[in-house]
Amino acid sequence: MALHLVIFGRQGAGKGTQSQHLVDAFGVVHVSTGDMLRAAIADETEMGLAAQAIMDDGGLVDDDTMCAIVADRLGAEDVVANGVLLDGFPRTPTQAEKLVDILGDRTIDAAINLEVSIEQVTTRMLDRGRDDDTPEAIEKRLRLYESETRPLLEWFEARDLLVTVDGLGTEAEVFDRIRLSLEARTQVGRVSEAE
Ligand code: AP5
Ligand code: MG
Repeated sequence: MALHLVIFGRQGAGKGTQSQHLVDAFGVVHVSTGDMLRAAIADETEMGLAAQAIMDDGGLVDDDTMCAIVADRLGAEDVVANGVLLDGFPRTPTQAEKLVDILGDRTIDAAINLEVSIEQVTTRMLDRGRDDDTPEAIEKRLRLYESETRPLLEWFEARDLLVTVDGLGTEAEVFDRIRLSLEARTQVGRVSEAE
């Protein structure tokens, strides 16, 4: 059964890190909008060049651009066949509504919310040192998370999709929590155990 998952949480909460484990465990395709934008910057596409200044500044790229990129990616054969793990999308209520349209008769199975405090994520990002991990951009991204993205938790909750997991601990500990919560929800893994 192909799963359609969203991983959610503050910048630096460990979405990208845990995504690798989720891909290995559930066979889904990792679709990270941040990674796609960074690839577009590296390729010097028109869209990448337009996004670069916004990203460096810690802002959000406009909804139309993001929804177009995701719609294109979710139509690809590998995603249709294996399901998806969306990382960094949706990030605004408009993107969430559009995602429902994009998925059509594919339904979201769960939205994993990684809970990590502002203090902890700030330390993690400053240690990581990506191009957009300057103190100013981090501060702006976290502010935008609270105003634009955090309200989506209610959107997922209202649809009974929210799985909240404590994101503090080792990578393996956090992944165990995610896996157990997902297995309890989706029955994934139970079939093979029963065989
Ligand atoms: P994006 O790439 O999505 O960045 P982000 O949301 O800022 O999230 P991060 O990638 O910083 O954090 P993460 O949760 O993946 O954490 P990670 O695993 O790296 O977006 C970048 C930009 O693109 C945005 O600012 C925006 O401009 C634009 N954009 C993207 N999508 C968009 C959209 N939909 N709409 C509009 N604009 C969009 O972990 C962080 C660090 O912590 C790492 O160093 C990691 O090694 C470490 N770590 C991980 N787990 C643990 C652990 N358990 N213990 C200790 N350290 C850990
Ligand atoms: Mg990431």
